[in-house]
Amino acid sequence: AATVTFDWNITWATADPDLRYKRQVIGINNQWPPPPMVVTKGDNVIVNVNNQLVNESTSLHFHGIYMTGTPHMDGPAGTSQCPIPPGSSFTYNFTVNQTGTYWYHSHVRGQYPDGLRGPMIIKDPDNPFKDQYDEEVVLTLSDWYHDRMPHLLKSFLSATNPTGAEPVPNSALMNETQNLTFAMNPGKRYMFRIINIGAFAPQYFWFEGHSMKIVEVDGIYTDPADADRIYVTPAQRYSVIIEAKNNTSSNFAFVGSMDEELFDTVPSTLNNNVTGWLVYEPTNNLPAAQVVSDYNAFDDFKLVPQDKMKLLDQIDHSFTLNMKMDNLGDGANYAFFNDVTYVAPKVPTLYTALTSSNFSTNPMIYGNNTNAFVLKEGETVEIILNNNDAGKHPFHLHGHAFQAVVRSAESAGNFANNETVPQVPMRRDTFLVRPNGNIVLRFRADNPGVWLFHCHLEWHVASGLIATMVEAPLRLQSLLDHGKGIPQDHYAACAANDPP
Ligand code: C2O
Repeated sequence: AATVTFDWNITWATADPDLRYKRQVIGINNQWPPPPMVVTKGDNVIVNVNNQLVNESTSLHFHGIYMTGTPHMDGPAGTSQCPIPPGSSFTYNFTVNQTGTYWYHSHVRGQYPDGLRGPMIIKDPDNPFKDQYDEEVVLTLSDWYHDRMPHLLKSFLSATNPTGAEPVPNSALMNETQNLTFAMNPGKRYMFRIINIGAFAPQYFWFEGHSMKIVEVDGIYTDPADADRIYVTPAQRYSVIIEAKNNTSSNFAFVGSMDEELFDTVPSTLNNNVTGWLVYEPTNNLPAAQVVSDYNAFDDFKLVPQDKMKLLDQIDHSFTLNMKMDNLGDGANYAFFNDVTYVAPKVPTLYTALTSSNFSTNPMIYGNNTNAFVLKEGETVEIILNNNDAGKHPFHLHGHAFQAVVRSAESAGNFANNETVPQVPMRRDTFLVRPNGNIVLRFRADNPGVWLFHCHLEWHVASGLIATMVEAPLRLQSLLDHGKGIPQDHYAACAANDPP
């Protein structure tokens, strides 16, 4: 294992990724798109951040990384740290004991769609599939907005938008561009690591003329599964192997197609596809893409984790989150779990847990707006999520991957009983719940920390669709010496007066 250091100034840059609108974006070291992080299992990763944005605070979250023993390095502002004010430095320092496909993004409310997002790959020296491909490729999918987030968020969360209609993206991107071609070598086998780093739109994804073999989702190896077309919500990842043809007679499109069902209105000018090409012969034409309905859907519940980890079937602690969207006194539309819309506290919830001695096991000390659940060390936790909303939502838990036990096609309250529960359920860190449907998720509370559970649609992070898992707070206090284990630069971020 090595120590891998990234020195990152967070800076404004200019970009025009869909070649229609030039705008300010948030980059790293004056570059956009931000660079991929590539490390190896067991590495100590150090990210020295200097916030040079001048007018915005920031933070970084390493999505899917468990942060075992270092929950204060997880990144969400208001949960595990204060936002990093302009002009300040802040160091993330953690060890990666996982493998596979992840990503990093800002975790200051509503910021990452302005550009601060990129792939994070953790190489596995013992990769069980390493003999099954010759080369790997990282492919991000994303939606893209011409307007900047602070402005979009302001109109989204206002009395002029009482229904909570989410801003519709202007376009879709692959590797943050619309001009992606990929040179194919006949007979070679490629593993594509596909990551949706978007804000809002899940994407249907397919390769024309090549079928995919799924071998990993969200960092978990799966038994190989053939798929024609996958559905990738924001924050989800799939590694798929494709085999190149043995001849160069034609080129093939590969397509990301945004799921329009999430859009309240679909502007006539919107091209919800982004197309790239597998190029075997540059002098041949690049064929037009086919349509999404030509390809068969793949259900991620069919996947089997390669480690065959069994269903967690002795539940110690079960709770229900009823979610809904509704208006508050200001006329804007908010999102609620059990009638509470999340508001990030000024004092990070982790710091409260560390400094409140035995009171830390009482959820009330985390305030009325954090949807805090206190979990006991080692217990098996079940979350029953009822989506009383007509939209699809991808739910993510920090610090863990969870098992999905059942997911209804639709209709909340009308679930589970008649479904067969898989004995080796799929495990990942982001699962889709269907419109007016629900999902039952389980995990073991074996990772002391304070972890958010939230919808990964960035609009709903802003409108409050978040709960807080305070996991094993007493153990956490000894782990981080009641707060003395947290480095000084982390506390310094809190000293600034109301950072932007
Ligand atoms: Cu991608 Cu709260 O996370």
